[in-house]
Amino acid sequence: MSETFTLTSNRVSLQPFTEHHLDARIHYQALPEVARYLYRSPLTPEATRESALANRERRFESPGDRLLFAVVRNVDNILLGEVVATLENPHACQIEIGWIFDPGSAGRGYATEAAKTLLTYLFTAENAHRVFARLDAENDASRRLCERLGMREEAHLIENDRDGDRWGSEYVYAILAREFEPAQAQKECIADSSSGSSMPYPPLKMSVQVHPLPRILSHRPLPSGMRPTAIHQK
Ligand SMILES: CC(C)(COP(=O)(O)OP(=O)(O)OC[C@H]1O[C@@H](n2cnc3c(N)ncnc32)[C@H](O)[C@@H]1OP(=O)(O)O)[C@@H](O)C(=O)NCCC(=O)NCCS
Repeated sequence: MSETFTLTSNRVSLQPFTEHHLDARIHYQALPEVARYLYRSPLTPEATRESALANRERRFESPGDRLLFAVVRNVDNILLGEVVATLENPHACQIEIGWIFDPGSAGRGYATEAAKTLLTYLFTAENAHRVFARLDAENDASRRLCERLGMREEAHLIENDRDGDRWGSEYVYAILAREFEPAQAQKECIADSSSGSSMPYPPLKMSVQVHPLPRILSHRPLPSGMRPTAIHQK
C-alpha cells in the first residue's frame, strides 16, 4: 500500500518532497557542515533530487522502508529541513528516525517540533514500540535534540565506524511508546512552571493533524495486549 500525506503541527508541516522544495534541499545538502556527522560526503544536486523524489510515497511495511518528509514552515511554506523514519524491524515495531536541517533555520526549535510531530505519528498511527536514533558522539546538537524529545541514551559505541580518516563513535538514543507521552507531559509541566527559568521558550502545544487520515497498519502483528490507537485530531 502506498499513499502520501501531510503531518501538521503548530509551526511546521511534514510533507512529501516536491519539485518546489528541491533548490532549498540542494543548498543545505551540499554544505560540508551539514554532512559533517553523516558519514558521507555532501550530496550532489543530482543525488539530492533523486533521493527526495524517490521517497514520496508511503511504503512502510518491510525492513528498510523509509518515510522521508520535507519540513516546511507553516507561515511562509519555506523548506526548513527534513526528517526521516526507517522501519528497522516490523515484527518488533522498531523504527529509526533522523533529521537534517538547513543551518539557516537552526536554533529556533523547528527540528525539535518536527521530530516530535514525527514521533507522535509513529507511536499513534504506525504502532511503533521503540523509536531510536544513532548519532555521532561529537554531534552535540543532535544529542541535545534527542534529550529534548525525552529519548534515553541507550548505548555509547566506541570507534564502531570510520568517517574518512577518523574513527567514529556513536550514541544510540531511544524512546518507548509508553515513555513518550509522560516525557512530553513532564516537559510541558516544567515549561509551564511559574519561575519560567527552566526553559527559555514556551511549551509546544502539539496537535498533529494528518491529511488524509492514515490507515492504521493492520498488516503488522501487534504484540499481545497492544491495540492500535487512532491519531489525535484537533
Ligand atoms: C541536528 C540538528 C537538526 C539540530 O538543529 P537545532 O537547530 O539545534 O535544533 P532545533 O531546531 O530543535 O533548535 C533547538 C535549539 O533552539 C533553541 N530553541 C529556541 N526556541 C525553541 C523552541 N521553541 N523549542 C525548542 N528549542 C528552541 C533550543 O534551546 C536549542 O538550542 P541549543 O541546542 O543551543 O540548546 C542540526 O544541527 C542539523 O541538521 N545538523 C546537521 C545534520 C545532522 O547532523 N543530523 C543528525 C544526524 S544523526
